Amino acid sequence: MNGQVQELLIRLSREHALRLEEYQTLIDGFSPEAAAFAQQAALRLRKQIYGEDIFIRGLIEISNICRNDCLYCGIRRSNAHCSRYRLQPEEILTCTDEGYALGFRTFVLQGGEDPFYTDAILTSLIREIRQRHPDCAITLSLGERGMSSFRRLREAGADRYLLRHETADPAHYHLLHPPECSFEHRMQCLSDLKQIGYQVGCGFMTGSPYQTSANLARDLKFIELFHPDMCGIGPFIPHHDTPFAAFPAGSVPLTCYLLSLVRLIVPTVLLPATTALGTLAPNGQELGILSGANVVMPNLSPVSVRNKYMLYDNKRSTGVDSAEHLEMLRERMRTIGYRIITDRGDVRSAPDSLCPGADN
Ligand code: 5AD
Repeated sequence: MNGQVQELLIRLSREHALRLEEYQTLIDGFSPEAAAFAQQAALRLRKQIYGEDIFIRGLIEISNICRNDCLYCGIRRSNAHCSRYRLQPEEILTCTDEGYALGFRTFVLQGGEDPFYTDAILTSLIREIRQRHPDCAITLSLGERGMSSFRRLREAGADRYLLRHETADPAHYHLLHPPECSFEHRMQCLSDLKQIGYQVGCGFMTGSPYQTSANLARDLKFIELFHPDMCGIGPFIPHHDTPFAAFPAGSVPLTCYLLSLVRLIVPTVLLPATTALGTLAPNGQELGILSGANVVMPNLSPVSVRNKYMLYDNKRSTGVDSAEHLEMLRERMRTIGYRIITDRGDVRSAPDSLCPGADN
């Protein structure tokens, strides 16, 4: 590892901030040694805040109907080969009840931008989940909506919202999305969500088509400034029915390096070891945890629809990623020295010694 990269990693783990060009130096300086160094620093920080605790979230994929046409995504509206489904509120409630019995205390309702889910439908669903499971957190991941909609859903009881920014570079954003999508609107949604009082998650894919190290540096700078509560990072994986079918998948080691860097930038961040990482490598989830991630999101969707939420080819929906196999996941986490916790898994605050300027 070159000395400058090491110096930057040390500074990042103390100050949790760098200049844009310095982030780019870290990305360009990616090497197994740099990754190992970043990983050790990330694990140290995470341990001080979260110990060996890993949080789980029950992921319910409520609909693969989407009005958007993102070029990378298998459920984009112009994919005529996608077999579409939508869960009714009653079916979603069955999932949360089953999930509760399994030990989940956070439910993530994720779906395409499906116009069926009006504010009225969602607010009554959220209220019902709240009523049945008052000790649970409700996370929404339903794409872009208006400020007033976000506010109504929050007032109904939603706690968190995941909306990956996808890329912090407007020119790159437009290479990944159709012309009707607006980078500014997406960023506006993220700042609205924060202002309304959600715990907010952003995130991006590694190795997405046309991505450069300068793009990734901007992602890191954005994360530093936005300071998300959660951050979803996974490798791009091509889907055969999209315009990006022929692009190569992102890399597991680079994704792991970025997970470590994000842990150094926002030490308290809730950082999932994503399904995409687990799809590219059989032990991807473990690699993610060992790079600084502290969240896993097993699939709680009804088994009958699981293979239809295909954002990319070969997406895993059974095995360790499924809620039925929680015991296996527990065991795998135990094997690498971590333990799954049954609670809402909110952000914990950092000890004073981790604040910038403290001499640690
Ligand atoms: N490969 C990896 N991740 C993808 N996503 C969508 N399509 C793909 C793909 N082909 C991610 C996007 C989106 C999240 C729900 O899934 O980042 O925000």
